[in-house]
Amino acid sequence: MCGVVGVTGNPNATEILVSGLEKLQYRGYDSAGIFVDQPDGTNYLVKTTGSIADLRKKISPEVQGTAGIGHTRWATHGGVTIENAHPQFSSDERFYLVHNGVIENFQELKDEYLQGAHFNSQTDTEVVVQLIDKFVKDGMSTKDAFNQTLGLLENSSYAFMLMDRNDPETIYVAKNKSPMLIGLGDGCNVVCSDSIAMLNVTHTFLEIQDGDVCVVRPNEVIVNDPTGAEVDRETFEVSVDPTASDKGTYPYYMLKEIDEQPNVMRKLSAKYLDQVGQPVITPALVEKLRDSDRIYIVGAGTSYHAGLVGKAQLEKLTGIPTEVHVASEFAYETPLLSEKPFFIFLSQSGETADSRQVLVNVNQKHLPSLTITNVANSTLSRESDFTLLLEAGPEISVASTKAYTAQIALEAILAKAVGEAKGVAAAQTFDLKGQLAVVAQGMQSIVDEKNEIDQIAQDYFVQANQAFYIGRGIDYTVSLEAALKLKEISYVHAEGFASGELKHGTIALIEPGTPVIGIITQAGTAGLTRSNLEETAARGAQTLSIVRQGLARPDDTFVIPDVDELLTPLLSVIPAQLLAYYTSLNKGLNVDLPRNLAKSVTVE
Ligand code: AGP
Repeated sequence: MCGVVGVTGNPNATEILVSGLEKLQYRGYDSAGIFVDQPDGTNYLVKTTGSIADLRKKISPEVQGTAGIGHTRWATHGGVTIENAHPQFSSDERFYLVHNGVIENFQELKDEYLQGAHFNSQTDTEVVVQLIDKFVKDGMSTKDAFNQTLGLLENSSYAFMLMDRNDPETIYVAKNKSPMLIGLGDGCNVVCSDSIAMLNVTHTFLEIQDGDVCVVRPNEVIVNDPTGAEVDRETFEVSVDPTASDKGTYPYYMLKEIDEQPNVMRKLSAKYLDQVGQPVITPALVEKLRDSDRIYIVGAGTSYHAGLVGKAQLEKLTGIPTEVHVASEFAYETPLLSEKPFFIFLSQSGETADSRQVLVNVNQKHLPSLTITNVANSTLSRESDFTLLLEAGPEISVASTKAYTAQIALEAILAKAVGEAKGVAAAQTFDLKGQLAVVAQGMQSIVDEKNEIDQIAQDYFVQANQAFYIGRGIDYTVSLEAALKLKEISYVHAEGFASGELKHGTIALIEPGTPVIGIITQAGTAGLTRSNLEETAARGAQTLSIVRQGLARPDDTFVIPDVDELLTPLLSVIPAQLLAYYTSLNKGLNVDLPRNLAKSVTVE
């Protein structure tokens, strides 16, 4: 997703911008650009489609400048072209603007205020910078024109940085629903959509709020809240770069992160379970959850799938009714079916706009919330009442793997803590510490057999044009995650399907050779899923199976070690992660940066 960076008051402005964009590139983009305000008054604008490396090649070594803005674009309005890359600029090249977000009413604004204006791009962002230019030409100051324009944006998300060549070293900043931080340096200030971009300049960041409009100069930052009042915002320190990771000898981050999962289980167990296996969770959080009468889990993509497993764990171990919602579908007016709801947000990045927008509404209703995330100080973490960190280490590959299993393990730990606080026997007798040790060993045994999985991927998936994962109950939830992995990095159309539902229509899609993988880990449904798998084989499918040891038969494809049925997703997902990885690898695709995708989706 788009990344924005800005700096003022530093002679190294160009390098700070470009290296800042490099730190953001893992999040996915398709074009980039910078604007540097040069002391001799000449502007310096360079943009490119492709990579930051391509951008670097285009930047003149002679460029001077102590202030500038930069952007990585993930196309929303308008195709991937240099003209549509940011910074966007006004027709007389006085104003330069970068933007992360979506302006919903840009076309209406263009029709009402900019009839006849010349546009260089198809972007919504250019409408904004042309509007600012128009209002300045009508006699407004730059700041007033900026505010006037912001007031016209409806239902829009934005993280803006504006520069005016007549006002060097000043960066105008505005934020609404998209992440944006101001970094405070010594005689130099920076602006970024994510602190990781500017940790080489500062570790101190100002947390600006939705609706704030700021003026950033080398020695001052002025923040006006939505009422126009000048306000002080809180600062926070970011100590480590959460993305500081390298591939080592791995060809892709994804394989490294799959291999790291056994150790992530051990880290979570060490951090959140004491020597005798008792959960170590903030008492205030446990009490809030204990006293709630309904739990809402909210997430997107893989995090949503982890929430589906969390539901089974929480309901079994605490007895509290639990709902799981896709963040973007969580109708904000959903009637809350309870007097004392509690919201759990699952988000590896802690920046997903769909999830964050639900949290904004939850906070407006003053309801209690927890964010389970892999990134400390992320937006969702900062804005929820409680945070539990996944401690999974940086997850760089767009396809989420270790964050998924870490979320499931941490949900189990939380469920045990709350269940024990409620005196639920299932929680009290659940030897979670022992089980997580078995899980870690089980994961290791599966990843040690990865070459077998590579061969299966080559035999059945590389040439496939479709595939199905099927299961029931908790196995169905894993089939959804397994299918997403295959789709998003190998581009094979895959569906995760409730195995009992296939015969009600979708089985019509089964063709000779279609791979159908049954996930079978629950004693109560094993026989039924095997029958469903046979029904597809009878229609020519190439059937495979991922089966828990205690339910296995000699002809099963993958046998995973026995573990408590509430934790089997931690193991059954591993062969699916590896099948997706090797299918993508054998198709010669970019496993870590699949087309069209971003690691952190910061637009709704
Ligand atoms: C998962 O492999 C995808 N990369 C994507 O679905 C991701 O899980 C989703 O965008 C949510 O991201 P988050 O966990 O950072 O909120």
